[in-house]
Amino acid sequence: MRQLIILLSIIGVLSSCHYDKAIVDLRNVSKDTLKISYSPSSSTITVGTAGSSAAPIIKNTVGGIVSFKISAPVAGITLDNNGVINWANTVPRGTYTLGIVATNIIGMVDSVRYILYVNASGVATAPTAFAYAPASNSVNQGMAGSSLAPSINTGGAAVTYSLTTTITGITINATSGVISWVNTMSPGTYTITVKATNSVGSITTNYTLIVVYLVRFSVDILPVISTKCATCHHGSHTTWTQWSTINNESASIHSRLKPAGNMPQGSSLSPVPTTQVSSGLFRDLFQLWITQGKLNN
Ligand code: HEC
Repeated sequence: MRQLIILLSIIGVLSSCHYDKAIVDLRNVSKDTLKISYSPSSSTITVGTAGSSAAPIIKNTVGGIVSFKISAPVAGITLDNNGVINWANTVPRGTYTLGIVATNIIGMVDSVRYILYVNASGVATAPTAFAYAPASNSVNQGMAGSSLAPSINTGGAAVTYSLTTTITGITINATSGVISWVNTMSPGTYTITVKATNSVGSITTNYTLIVVYLVRFSVDILPVISTKCATCHHGSHTTWTQWSTINNESASIHSRLKPAGNMPQGSSLSPVPTTQVSSGLFRDLFQLWITQGKLNN
């Protein structure tokens, strides 16, 4: 059934294509994804302690069973059917960086890293090896969200997390290290420095949040296309004064926009604010509108 749907989509795209439109649309035929992550992505124990990780967060649009394996097995460390990592009390002191590989029913694979720190018992040390994975996140303007919990060697004492500078809209969970942001963040790149502190010392690391400008069709796209293009493109061409036709022809419109293309003929496109796209080119703003799902907003 799934293959049939994909085949029908390809036929549909090919039969309606002209210029280079098919190349662009074909990339969107399959949007299947498999993504696994652990939050936190590490555990710190003292030698002689058995335990287990949290279950991984699984994003699998295909559905069905996801199977897990450790790419380089370590004695005393096993994985259950749900991707939970278990370690026996026999695992010697050391740092174990485990590659966890997940596979779904159509053979898509994703892998992620989990680190087990097995410390000596006794005196605590300052935290080390502090990092977020992923260490950056790119979101569209208007979306609240949060990071995963970081990985860290706690040094054997309880760690609390804090932000070294105040950034409006950004907070941290002092216990888990999860960073959260509100849906009213302005577009831009935010470098967030986080400090992890235990009774002995502290360590800092950075997390980068990129908030991407959300293109507004009615304000950013339509006025430009209808005044700069629809003047010539009418009659046998579609009228580019409404969302439906601009949506349908978005690939060929984008391919002809200046400076890579030669449109609009006899005229030019005004620069757009660099807070919207860093290049300041309408062409790139139009591409961003496509990437964001060609919203009729
Ligand atoms: C002054 C008139 C004029 C303006 C303004 C103009 N075009 Fe064109 N356009 C033409 C002509 C003439 C052709 C056919 C010759 C060619 O392909 O270069 C054409 C061809 C095209 C084509 C390929 C054929 C088609 O119809 O699909 C695209 C796509 C296109 N233009 C997009 C645009 C876009 C986008 C704008 C606005 C940014 C624009 N044009 C503004 C005159 C114009």
